[in-house]
Amino acid sequence: MKPWTHAHVLDLACFSLDDYATVLELAQRFRSLPVVGARKLPALQGRMVTTLFFEPSTRTRSSFELAARRLSADVQSFSPAASSLSKGESLLDTARTYVAMGSNVLVVRHGCAGVPQKLARDLEALGAGVAVLNAGDGLHSHPSQGLLDLFTLARHFDPEKPSPAALQGRRIVIVGDVLHSRVARSNIWALTACGAEVVLCGPPTLLPSLFNAFTASPPPGQSVDPVPRRGAVRVVRDLAEALPGADAVMTLRLQKERMRQNLLTSLDSYQRRYGLNHQVLALCGRPVPVLHPGPVNRGVEMAGDLLDDGRCCLVDEQVRNGVPIRMALLYLLAAAMPDVKEV
Ligand code: NCD
Repeated sequence: MKPWTHAHVLDLACFSLDDYATVLELAQRFRSLPVVGARKLPALQGRMVTTLFFEPSTRTRSSFELAARRLSADVQSFSPAASSLSKGESLLDTARTYVAMGSNVLVVRHGCAGVPQKLARDLEALGAGVAVLNAGDGLHSHPSQGLLDLFTLARHFDPEKPSPAALQGRRIVIVGDVLHSRVARSNIWALTACGAEVVLCGPPTLLPSLFNAFTASPPPGQSVDPVPRRGAVRVVRDLAEALPGADAVMTLRLQKERMRQNLLTSLDSYQRRYGLNHQVLALCGRPVPVLHPGPVNRGVEMAGDLLDDGRCCLVDEQVRNGVPIRMALLYLLAAAMPDVKEV
């Protein structure tokens, strides 16, 4: 395993191929731990992980908390509604409160892009020595989801050795509301880094053509792409064009809460044109796995019987893989701190 150099995990745009390989290798080790009996590792004993979620979450939050407990960390869970935020305390001061209680890793989800990044910078300026892990910021980034999707696909293509190489030359189709999806953005960085071709498919209102050039522009503050040869990104409008030759298909939730204008004529017409079901998937020309980050609008992005079809639907597998991926991230961040036991 190559040395880990990140003090925080905020975005996948700055991940090198070695970073992906390290996370996947560790996750595979954590994934193979027994599911019954002694499930806990002592690696983060005496460490504290705090989840600060300013947006709703089912799987991401529980999965981070479970991952932290499996590594024997103490876990604190912050809920904005029941906190002193309602009394006017700032987000930075809230975070400092948890740091003062001894928190080593803050897992942050926020509706505004850039909040975890700003928090990490501000806490560094204060010399807080705490790691920040982005659990989803606005439309921008959701690194742990991008990694667990990558891990799920790598395990599908190469169950014995799920490494970035398993994605080389694969065509992955991402369907739907790409515009509002931080998951799609993180997936694009991860998949193209590993040499996959990403085909994005959706209507112009939810998938502007500028996504063709998504990986061409370096993220702010970063002049050199850490990945020498990225796979391509291509925007298409119809499933009939996107699906033939696909190796896997990922569909996304219509993020109605983030849609400020009327971006769709009707749910019905969207479902007819972009909804996945067994018949539509046959366009791929061979059996392919289907992914969705959840939560699913059953019957909109995906037919109910496809979602329930364990032969091709990897949604439960994605959730399962979220735990070892988050264990790997927590371990890598906390391992840079003194006194962490080796796994
Ligand atoms: C996603 C999110 O919150 O970005 N869900 C998740 O974390 N599994 C996607 C979504 O909300 O549609």
